Amino acid sequence: MIAIGCDHGGINLKEIIKKFLEEKGLEFKDFGTYSTDSCDYPDYAKAVCDAIVSGECEKGILVCGTGIGMSIAANKIDGIRAAHVTDTYSARMTKEHNDANIICLGERITGCDLALEIVNAYLCAEFQGGRHQKRIDKLMSFQK
Ligand code: RB5
Repeated sequence: MIAIGCDHGGINLKEIIKKFLEEKGLEFKDFGTYSTDSCDYPDYAKAVCDAIVSGECEKGILVCGTGIGMSIAANKIDGIRAAHVTDTYSARMTKEHNDANIICLGERITGCDLALEIVNAYLCAEFQGGRHQKRIDKLMSFQK
């Protein structure tokens, strides 16, 4: 299950990503926001992160205007490794090497077609383990 969330600055791209996931037959849960009314991105970052930390969802996608606020907020939560990505190579590598459990996108930064390629690259990638696990163990110890 993929958790997806956004603020008012990311709602259009979130809807496009949801359609993409539906077409691919991938299950997702939308944690809002559900309107273009101004809101606070940390609230939606927290909802998506909680779903991942609890085990309800395995991966998350967060969208705001730049992707930056969502990534800062998500990385404050214990157990989360959120990557702000603007290219497909980074989207793949952040799963393979960092085992990122969330990617963050900026609707005002990344065009729709590229954003969907980024989502696809992230979802298709697999964590490589090995030497990367040791590094993740180290960085995760910073949160405890
Ligand atoms: C909202 O205007 C904007 O600040 C937000 O979507 C995001 O870009 C924050 O990082």
